[in-house]
Amino acid sequence: MSDRGFDATTPLAAELADLTRRRRALADVAVPRPTATRVIAVANQKGGVGKTTTCVNVAAALARFGAKVLVVDLDPQGNASTALGIDHHGDISSIYDVLVGTSEIADTVVVSPENSQLLCAPSTLDLAGAEIELVTMAAREYRLARALERYRESDAGSDLDYVLIDCPPSLGLLTINAFVAAREVMIPIQCEYYALEGVSQLVRNIELVKGHLNPQLALSTILLTMFDARTNLAQQVVDDVREHFAGQTLHTLIPRSVRVSEAPSYGQTVIAYDAGSPGAVAYQEAAVEIARRGVTV
Ligand SMILES: Nc1ncnc2c1ncn2[C@@H]1O[C@H](COP(=O)(O)OP(=O)(O)OP(=O)(O)O)[C@@H](O)[C@H]1O
Ligand SMILES: [Mg+2]
Repeated sequence: MSDRGFDATTPLAAELADLTRRRRALADVAVPRPTATRVIAVANQKGGVGKTTTCVNVAAALARFGAKVLVVDLDPQGNASTALGIDHHGDISSIYDVLVGTSEIADTVVVSPENSQLLCAPSTLDLAGAEIELVTMAAREYRLARALERYRESDAGSDLDYVLIDCPPSLGLLTINAFVAAREVMIPIQCEYYALEGVSQLVRNIELVKGHLNPQLALSTILLTMFDARTNLAQQVVDDVREHFAGQTLHTLIPRSVRVSEAPSYGQTVIAYDAGSPGAVAYQEAAVEIARRGVTV
């Protein structure tokens, strides 16, 4: 025991000291801005792996570091819109209207109340029908890509640093639209049993889109989410993923953290809700890594 009655050798004390050191490091970190807009689809057809949580928190962290970021909510559940504090019920213009061609992205974009650099093109429940409605439409795979190009050519969208697209848990037309609109794919992988199940199918889909629809697409980033240091299984998943995807896996691990799961019920990202909490610190570190890596893979 130290003379203050505080045992600095306990795991909890070590964890706190580590968190304090990392918070300090983030306070003076230099985060480069990209030379051109980076469009990143956040995808995994498996449900509940942390896609939306990753999308909104990485976006909020990048915005906190000064980047201008648009989150495109491409999931009918609208969880990304909720987490960014944006109303997505009733009669608003949403990404559904953009896909069916009755609105432009500029008509849908709302500034998140937590940061003027953080924008969202919200989704509404209508989007649930879009998978089917799109089937018979012309250029059905290119609708988001074309709309995003028009937005980026407009005054409102010309100075975006990042566009992060939150995909639904499926590999249908909505996710294909995201893959055609993006240059990069980021896959969140939950640190649990069967973590890699389905990832090879996802990678095959990325390759198919790259081969047929969007030659520029690359799997640039893998982020391990909901890591629980107390289980051997979580560490095993980390080792497996790092072995399979050595070049793409970020060093940062996102810990399982109550603050991360609480934040959306306040209509906030964890970056606004509790910036010093372990999950918020980890998401900021992930954002720094993403910004520094650029498109290298
Ligand atoms: N690091 C974390 N710590 C604690 N809870 C988390 C963490 N990341 C995500 N969660 C919780 O896990 C659940 C699933 O996360 P999320 O909604 O981000 O996954 P998803 O892949 O977007 O799900 P879906 O496939 O339904 O779109 C949510 O309740 C979220 O709050
Ligand atoms: Mg989601």
